[in-house]
Amino acid sequence: MAKLTIKDIDLRGKRVLARVDYNVPMTKQDDTMVINDDTRIRATLPTLQAMTEKGARVVLAAHLGRPKGKRVSSMSLRPVADSLSKLTGKPVSFCDQCVGRTAVDAANNLEDGSLLLLENVRYHAEEEANDPTFATQLAGDAEVFVNDAFGAAHRAHASTVGVANVLNSRGGQSVAGILMERELQFLGDELESPARPFVVILGGAKVSDKIKVIDRLLEKADTIVIGGAMAYTFKLAKGLTVGKSLVERDKVDIAQAALDKAAKRGVQFLIPTDNVVAVPTEVDGKFMFRDHRVNDSENIPDEVEGVDIGPKSAATFSEAIAGAGTILWNGPMGIFEDDRFADGTFAVARTVCEATANGAKSIIGGGDSVKALNKVNLGDQVTFMSTGGGASLEFLEGKDLPGVAALTEKPN
Ligand code: 3PG
Repeated sequence: MAKLTIKDIDLRGKRVLARVDYNVPMTKQDDTMVINDDTRIRATLPTLQAMTEKGARVVLAAHLGRPKGKRVSSMSLRPVADSLSKLTGKPVSFCDQCVGRTAVDAANNLEDGSLLLLENVRYHAEEEANDPTFATQLAGDAEVFVNDAFGAAHRAHASTVGVANVLNSRGGQSVAGILMERELQFLGDELESPARPFVVILGGAKVSDKIKVIDRLLEKADTIVIGGAMAYTFKLAKGLTVGKSLVERDKVDIAQAALDKAAKRGVQFLIPTDNVVAVPTEVDGKFMFRDHRVNDSENIPDEVEGVDIGPKSAATFSEAIAGAGTILWNGPMGIFEDDRFADGTFAVARTVCEATANGAKSIIGGGDSVKALNKVNLGDQVTFMSTGGGASLEFLEGKDLPGVAALTEKPN
């Protein structure tokens, strides 16, 4: 059932509570927390603009990290308020509470078309417990709840589900923001009937993390390309050797079942035929890799670990990707954070962008693939990059996301 979005309702002069996902990576520099990647903040700007240009008075609620119900100063959202002021070009007030008197006063002081960011909702244990009293406090006297936090929509928390229920029960509206709508469109509707060939590229460490996605996409894809450490479990299933590579021995049977399903359905299923390998070792108690080289064989020798796909595999994968009508990519091909093992991931990134320039629709399913594209400044050359991590995976598995389910349905 389709959900109401902010485009369906009149926001003029309304008091709005908006849930956003500002769970952004930060590091400490000279006693202050600095934002390393503001992609998630930028991604909400269209929604913020749509609300403020109508004169709505907007209170923003968000979480940062996992403080487990306690105030942890390194997880304060204050730096995000500063970043928002710069990005929106207007002052964004910050309240160091998210509920209680100060938060209520700050919300009441808002002028038409202005923004207030509340402190981390996860400083209260009631948030993750989806406590109804806390949700009612958080909702305050909002007339509309806008959920733009796709990245947190798989969590049934007070600020995602609880406030929607509060608004719905008092006859208000709970609607999707522009980012939320785009995420649901690209990771949902667009993949329902993709332009063909539909090529799915999956990487990352574990088969167990992605098996449900693989299983579901085997129903839709023309080609599935597997890289990253999870490819080694598929190698085991094919009776190949993997040396010291990361594998999930107890998942070989599900990898085999996926290979069988692909064969039955005529889905091309590509795993690496060569790899970059290295010797895992410990120097002064520190783990590291030495002596990396290309292993030009499907089998990986005993003494080494696979750390990236090899050049032959990169070429085969690229050929499949180049002819795609639709591409879904989730997960790196190797340990791309280490420059020595990044070639495979970056080769895939470049081919995905070239295919996009040639008319393919490319959808990047969040997490490390987004990081990899941003690392080589190609983030703006794909059709859509999801801001979700766990939420994207759960949605791609076909699960209902509680934060979406709680929104008001469009009237027939
Ligand atoms: C994310 O970073 O994936 C979301 O913000 C959700 O965060 P969480 O996994 O801590 O709930």
